[in-house]
Amino acid sequence: MVSSPPDPAFLECLANRLGPRGFTADPADIDPWTIDWRGRVRGSAVALLSPADTAEAADIVAMCAAAGVPLVPQGGNTSMVAGATPPANGSALILSTRRMRAIRSISAADGVAVVEAGVVLADLHDAAAVHGLRFPLSLAAKGSATIGGLVSTNAGGTQVLRFGPMRSLVLGIEAVLPDGSRFDGLSALRKDNRGYDLRQLLTGAEGTLGIVTAASLRLVPAIGRRAVAWAGLDSPQAALALLRRLEAATGEAVESFELVPDDALDLVIRHIPGSRAPLGGAHRWHALIEATAPQGAADPADALGQVLGQAMADGGVGDATIAASEAQAEALWRLRESISDAERADGMAAKHDISVPVSAMPDFILSARVAVEAAFPGTRVIAFGHLGDGNVHFNVRAPAGIPATGAEGMAWLAETGAAVSRMVNDLTVAAGGSISAEHGIGQTKLAEYARLADPARLAAQQAIKAALDPRWLMNPGKLVPR
Ligand code: MLT
Ligand code: ZN
Repeated sequence: MVSSPPDPAFLECLANRLGPRGFTADPADIDPWTIDWRGRVRGSAVALLSPADTAEAADIVAMCAAAGVPLVPQGGNTSMVAGATPPANGSALILSTRRMRAIRSISAADGVAVVEAGVVLADLHDAAAVHGLRFPLSLAAKGSATIGGLVSTNAGGTQVLRFGPMRSLVLGIEAVLPDGSRFDGLSALRKDNRGYDLRQLLTGAEGTLGIVTAASLRLVPAIGRRAVAWAGLDSPQAALALLRRLEAATGEAVESFELVPDDALDLVIRHIPGSRAPLGGAHRWHALIEATAPQGAADPADALGQVLGQAMADGGVGDATIAASEAQAEALWRLRESISDAERADGMAAKHDISVPVSAMPDFILSARVAVEAAFPGTRVIAFGHLGDGNVHFNVRAPAGIPATGAEGMAWLAETGAAVSRMVNDLTVAAGGSISAEHGIGQTKLAEYARLADPARLAAQQAIKAALDPRWLMNPGKLVPR
């Protein structure tokens, strides 16, 4: 494994190839990109490379491959698992895709956008809207997360229920492979049966098999009308039952169904200015629901109101409200999307992103919470998120007063937090689940992945990695245990 920084003569070659806009060795430019979004993992790099296009990216990868220099691809640096943070020994260079931000084309006829890796998700949303279309993937980091990172991590988010994760929206990929060769797989054929699917292999590969430089993405018609509701519930079981009732009554209209426990809502109200509880009275659990309808179809608020009304009458739901305006709808979404920020403002937590079979999730949440809080006195579990996908963020907050950053918080995380994570992950695996539902493995889940993954799965992943990247130069220390 490479363990020392590349030599200055090689850096000069890269600087000459990229020019001053594409190369910096100034620590002030580089430093902000050497720490992960959560502020928990700090790496080091002696240069930040920002190619302007695929040709420059391919040249750089070829030069680094020849010189044996590792590269860490980076987009918006919003990884939840330090997947874009360089190793601490300074041996790797950061390859940022942020200058590759062209939307090459949007075809309403094909329902396809071809976009470069550095395009920010919110910008793609805006560009598609101009054509009466939308890209149906959304998450709290949409203002910074880039397409290359979203593809490379097979990102999920709050609309997976209807449209699936990134994997189901990627129709084609352009990438630079570890030897610097260019894979042009952008043609967005709906059918293509030529064997191993490199597009799917590179999706979710976390940059370990090459650098995604552009993608062809599926677009769907823009929403005609949407209805956003907030429901107060007794239990996660009641929440899942409500989702099934809504699906039975409205078919595919329900696009989002997010579970929010009362303590998560309390944290948001405490830490995020301008937040307030949507319902009067105390409810232990809440669901944020979004239903949509195409242009010209009936208002989805009618069906949503009917189901919620019936559920309130028969006790399935404690109370509910439907947003009366776009501003109210946005305010409800802001509560949900602020949970991570509020949690961080409140203190340290061991974070998990787990999935189990959807029907098993309600019982899992309750039983795992009791078990973890009993095993680690003073901790408090907050399990929130994508209940309809069988995926929650089962976060375990440190005892009150332990800050989210700094030595005290990091010491708790390294000792107690690690033991907490082992317990949560063991419970998840015992329930037939996955320790990473949508955030990926990155660095922070690598040891646990190595401990718990099926040996055949690991061996196959290692063989693929070694075949395409024999010197393990692409995004070292991420995803595939060596
Ligand atoms: C979310 O769903 O809000 C993010 O994936 C959560 C996180 O911070 O873990
Ligand atoms: Zn999530």
